[in-house]
Amino acid sequence: MDFRQFKQLLKYADHNAEAISQMPEVNLSKSYIFRDILKCYLVVKNGKFSFKNRLNRAFECLKHGVTSYTFVRYNKEYQLEEPKTTFSEMKRILVTGGAGFIGSHLCDRLVKEGNDVICLDNFYTGSKENVWHLIGKPNFEIVRHDVCQPYWAEIDEIYNLACPASPVYYQNDPIQTTKTSVFGAYFMLGLARRTKCKILQSSTSEVYGDPTVHPQPETYWGNVNMIGVRSCYDEGKRCAETLFYDYHRLHGLRIKIIRIFNTYGPRMAENDGRVISNFIMQALRGEDITIYGDGTQTRSFQYVSDLIEGMIRMMNSGDDFTGPVNIGNPGEFTMLELAEKVIAMTGSKSKIVFSPLPSDDPKMRKPDIALAKAKLNWEPKVGLDEGLKETIDYFKSRL
Ligand SMILES: NC(=O)c1ccc[n+]([C@@H]2O[C@H](COP(=O)([O-])OP(=O)(O)OC[C@H]3O[C@@H](n4cnc5c(N)ncnc54)[C@H](O)[C@@H]3O)[C@@H](O)[C@H]2O)c1
Repeated sequence: MDFRQFKQLLKYADHNAEAISQMPEVNLSKSYIFRDILKCYLVVKNGKFSFKNRLNRAFECLKHGVTSYTFVRYNKEYQLEEPKTTFSEMKRILVTGGAGFIGSHLCDRLVKEGNDVICLDNFYTGSKENVWHLIGKPNFEIVRHDVCQPYWAEIDEIYNLACPASPVYYQNDPIQTTKTSVFGAYFMLGLARRTKCKILQSSTSEVYGDPTVHPQPETYWGNVNMIGVRSCYDEGKRCAETLFYDYHRLHGLRIKIIRIFNTYGPRMAENDGRVISNFIMQALRGEDITIYGDGTQTRSFQYVSDLIEGMIRMMNSGDDFTGPVNIGNPGEFTMLELAEKVIAMTGSKSKIVFSPLPSDDPKMRKPDIALAKAKLNWEPKVGLDEGLKETIDYFKSRL
């Protein structure tokens, strides 16, 4: 092995830090230690490499990884990824709404995969705190900007997430909400057209309104009130889908539309009025848990990591697959079941109380994910108990 090959191995070690540190052969918490030790050997042995014990075996893993990227040790498979070599070879990816709940998890994943990420946000519902840990990384930058105004950058992919998702916030200024969805989509599509990049729209299950078909396939056109208090969000998102398709038909843009169903996880805002954050915060504070309606209305909840996987797979799918595709967890729960589960998992003494159902609240919502399974080989992996535990721990840490 020559010096160039050795340097390449170090690059693999860096890039695959987490995977390597999890290998049973490598009893080191961080691969940079591993890398430093390798470097020491390089110096000490002056190009003659002799590795001992565990390090030797880990090094062998890496060596094989250069050709296959897959290792089987102790019946466990490790997938090592090829590192991006230089900044100019990285994909530059724009995430609008990147400082929000979902956007920040997406930025985490894209940065970790070695992309050059621009997080664009006006911090209406998002916060710098969500991406604080990324600030300072050379492949991450944050831009304060409102998507209702044009934005220009040289980019390879756009994930368009900017839009408040919680009813409390999107109903606070409904005109701004419609503008964000419609002008935001318009300006981002313009940018995608100029840079000839791929663009993914985070649409929503709300485009189905109060559905008369259950579960909802993508072919269902929905049952939406266009003049209600939720219409600014629902119709804004529907119009954005229309714009995406018109840019695709008229200008041949490479578009991707996903319809996200209820998603939860760490970094949801605790005061955003969504059911999971409401129930958990009420339970943790020992307050009454409020169920709107009689509690028999159902919802399905997907954990945020499942959604991020679905988004990335959609972006990386062939240009001929534009969607829309549902990304959600079909596991269905009544609000009463959810409240009881949260009380049990938090060990809370909270009582359940009932309030009238808000206007246009859908009675049931459940994704048909056959298309996502067929086209993206995607389905959710995280069950409600596992996801709730992570989310409860997060909210506990913020009390
Ligand atoms: N969370 C869900 O269950 C869910 C379900 C369906 C669809 N979605 C969609 O996913 C996307 C992200 O949702 P989220 O749950 O992370 O919500 P969020 O409110 O946490 O994130 C939205 C982000 O967009 C930013 N933003 C809002 N208006 C903006 C503007 N005019 N310019 C720039 N930035 C702006 C906010 O500051 C925030 O950081 C949204 O488009 C939402 O419609 C979410």
